[in-house]
Amino acid sequence: MRTPFVAGNWKMFKSVAEARHLISELVPGLQAVEGVEKVLCPPFTALLAAAALLEGTDIGLGAQNLHWEISGAYTGEISPVMVAELCRYVIIGHSERRKYFGETDETVNRKVQAALTHSLIPIVCVGETLEENEAGQTAQVVSRQIRQGFAGIGGFFEASSASSVVVAYEPVWAIGTGRPSTAAGARAVVVDVIRPALAELFGAAFSQAVRVLYGGSVTGSNAAEYFAEPEIDGALVGGASLKVADFTQIVKAAAG
Ligand code: 13P
Repeated sequence: MRTPFVAGNWKMFKSVAEARHLISELVPGLQAVEGVEKVLCPPFTALLAAAALLEGTDIGLGAQNLHWEISGAYTGEISPVMVAELCRYVIIGHSERRKYFGETDETVNRKVQAALTHSLIPIVCVGETLEENEAGQTAQVVSRQIRQGFAGIGGFFEASSASSVVVAYEPVWAIGTGRPSTAAGARAVVVDVIRPALAELFGAAFSQAVRVLYGGSVTGSNAAEYFAEPEIDGALVGGASLKVADFTQIVKAAAG
């Protein structure tokens, strides 16, 4: 029912020239995999070049952030209108933005609304820190992030448009650490926390139709374990998305 989804979050890596090179190496392998929604999220500076290279392929382009205002005196920010000129997707509320740039559930909510208003597909990131995990607060934190991140946006969705939003469960302690969550652990959060919170907001049918990804130290060698869980619909990949063989293997694994 849910089309598998794999996105590469390049974070703050790759110049324009490097991005061109990486994309030209990725495209043939990724294009060969059918039945997976594939997305690359390079830095803003590489989006224009990436859009040109991806034109005519079935590989989507995403930004890593946006501002909620459509224009104005916001030095250093990029508006949803600008993102939507080049991209179909946008990552929102990544834990690095929450940690280093003061993003809160409230700003995440504004950004989700802005993305949906401009027909962008938000990839909304949630996940607990190590401290929260060890204190047994995972369910409480992730549930709050979903409820507040998606507050007041029921009007954007019809039953059929659950594909216009993607959720990524990325436990902060698993990001860039080489210490991924187990597939069973990630599944439990998806099944016990994320889908119930979405169901409470938008109904059971919508909750069942939303793609929920796992992110955090996903590699070519462990990806299949996550995709073997029917409740995990794909991955948001950091480090391994910069490696052609690894990322291609992850996308292939998602195809089953
Ligand atoms: P890593 O895959 O490098 O752990 O990063 C995950 C991530 O933050 C994707 O958004």
